[in-house]
Amino acid sequence: MRKKITIPEMMQMKRDGRRIAVLTAYDYPTARLVDSGGVDAILVGDSAGVVFSGYETTLPVTMDEMLYHTRAVVRARPKALVIADMPFMACQCGEVEALKNCGRMLQEGGAEAVKIEGGVAMAPVIRAVTAMDIPVMAHIGLTPQSVHRMGGYKVQGRNDQAERIMEDARAVQDAGAFAVVLEGVPASLAARITESLDIPTIGIGAGPGCDGQVLVIHDILGLCEKYSPKFVKRYADLAPVITDAARQYVSEVKEGIFPTEEHSFA
Ligand code: KIV
Repeated sequence: MRKKITIPEMMQMKRDGRRIAVLTAYDYPTARLVDSGGVDAILVGDSAGVVFSGYETTLPVTMDEMLYHTRAVVRARPKALVIADMPFMACQCGEVEALKNCGRMLQEGGAEAVKIEGGVAMAPVIRAVTAMDIPVMAHIGLTPQSVHRMGGYKVQGRNDQAERIMEDARAVQDAGAFAVVLEGVPASLAARITESLDIPTIGIGAGPGCDGQVLVIHDILGLCEKYSPKFVKRYADLAPVITDAARQYVSEVKEGIFPTEEHSFA
């Protein structure tokens, strides 16, 4: 039987050179399925706002929405570590507010860790939260909650910006984060950060040199037809499968083919 993945185990994986595989999930059945697939961690990402709720960005996602998704994932009792994303403005209004919100994610949501976007600027918050034994995964580089500052979802850390991302990485490690997501940064920079940190780096659009990878479940299953970023690999193409099943059902209902006696009670 697979062992429960814990924070110390995930940190040990880096020291042992074992790669870490993370996927997002936002609901009970998906959490069960990805856990059966053997992921090391499930990220209840605020990407739920886009791929599940249909918002244009992650900015409208609320604490209540994230708690709802987190509780659903936790009910799957996964062996994978459950990490819940802190939505926009849950940690930006000071350390006390951040502590309360991160605490809710563990107490009411059942998460085992939280993820906070931001580097140097968020380090004091990460320090305060980890000091209260709430494990934090940091998230630097292309941080989707900063979409307006970045002027879109653009690769961060090219050329003279690289040092700033390196400083973010050092700051979140020093503040006590147990891992850091590196999103949308050049592969060479991600590899350099990975070598220089003691905590695991989890890449998304950051090349092969990270300690682990994370992708959005809807992207790998081909459920999100709107866009497909360069860094996504599609492992299944479920959108046409679902549409075809729905089309067949509609046609059978309309033609009186379904239901039959087989699907009826005496
Ligand atoms: O919200 C999310 O799913 C994320 C990952 C893509 C890293 O932040």
